[in-house]
Amino acid sequence: MSLPDAITPLFTPLDLADGLTLPNRIVMAPMTRCMAGDGLVPTEAMAAYYARRGAAGLIITEGTIVRPDGQGYPDTPGLFSEAQVAGWRRVVEAVHSAGGRLFCQLWHVGRVSHPTYLDGALPIAPSAVPLEGRVPRTDLTYTTPRALALAEIPEVVAAYGTAATNAKAAGFDGVEIHGANGYLIDQFLHHHTNRRDDAYGGTPEHMARFCLEVVDAVAAAMGPGRTGIRLSPAAYHFMEQDPRDVAVFDHLLAELGGRDLAYVHAGIAGHHWTYDYLKEGTVAAYLRAHYPGRLVACGGFTPESAAAALAAGEADLAAIGRPFIANPDLVARVREGEELVAYHERMLLKLE
Ligand SMILES: Cc1cc2nc3c(=O)[nH]c(=O)nc-3n(C[C@H](O)[C@H](O)[C@H](O)COP(=O)(O)O)c2cc1C
Repeated sequence: MSLPDAITPLFTPLDLADGLTLPNRIVMAPMTRCMAGDGLVPTEAMAAYYARRGAAGLIITEGTIVRPDGQGYPDTPGLFSEAQVAGWRRVVEAVHSAGGRLFCQLWHVGRVSHPTYLDGALPIAPSAVPLEGRVPRTDLTYTTPRALALAEIPEVVAAYGTAATNAKAAGFDGVEIHGANGYLIDQFLHHHTNRRDDAYGGTPEHMARFCLEVVDAVAAAMGPGRTGIRLSPAAYHFMEQDPRDVAVFDHLLAELGGRDLAYVHAGIAGHHWTYDYLKEGTVAAYLRAHYPGRLVACGGFTPESAAAALAAGEADLAAIGRPFIANPDLVARVREGEELVAYHERMLLKLE
């Protein structure tokens, strides 16, 4: 049966890396579900949840913390203990048995945490800039984090590398570095949250250094072709906008362009949202203009708008988030032209 023209671009295979061909261009976006078990170990229910979505061209897991002080939400899985690696191995096996491919998203929340998750310690961040607001699912308010000492930074970078080694041991097809959405790496990349005046702050080269060190540590463990990164050039979550940030991303993307990574993934909730200080308008257009490699777009896509974005050359892959929660069989529904079930927040209460 031939596909309707409107969705054909979604079903063109893509060679992502040596030995890794995606059968379609639909990526399941990373989505935190807060359903890990004791010790932040992935569960059988998580294995079944991801396996049900195995027809995606690529699944990116929920954010997975690289060390204990990277946690900012309840029951988010980790990738730093043996039990966590064993739990993820079961998830990977289930997805592979279902014919799927799985990248693990490596995450440290930085200042978006609270002492309640950290045995009473303060969250770590590039600088001691307070975060306003309420901690989700609690009555607590966010706090002022502690600035990382220069001597501590190599340990944090190394934790990402170790997590990538663990991801490889668990059988993942690759990893995505979570450099977006206002979390630790993104905090180094924006002036609002990075006030350092040492080798990690003050200039675009210095502000991009932490991110590039993480990329190099992870790529050394996983292979560059099996390493993607999610970035938010537009500060839209947990931080304030500053037009000077563009120069940081210009530098970062030029550096990433020489590293032969799997992809850069737009961390934005609206693919079509525009920003005055991005000359190209949208985040995807800005990334396309400054990064020569593969681009994953995301944010508010329907199957048709995702296919249109690919057809227009705005990106190489389209990530879909909430509709994948509502429709485990999303790929089959799209292929067969069936209507999608509408997403509702209450669906987050159960892992189905
Ligand atoms: C419940 C939920 C959890 C999310 N967790 C993550 C996450 O762990 N990592 C991440 O990079 N983005 C996360 N996101 C953002 C999504 O990856 C995606 O960018 C966003 O939902 C917009 O895409 P959509 O309109 O297709 O849902 C989350 C979104 C939702 C709704």
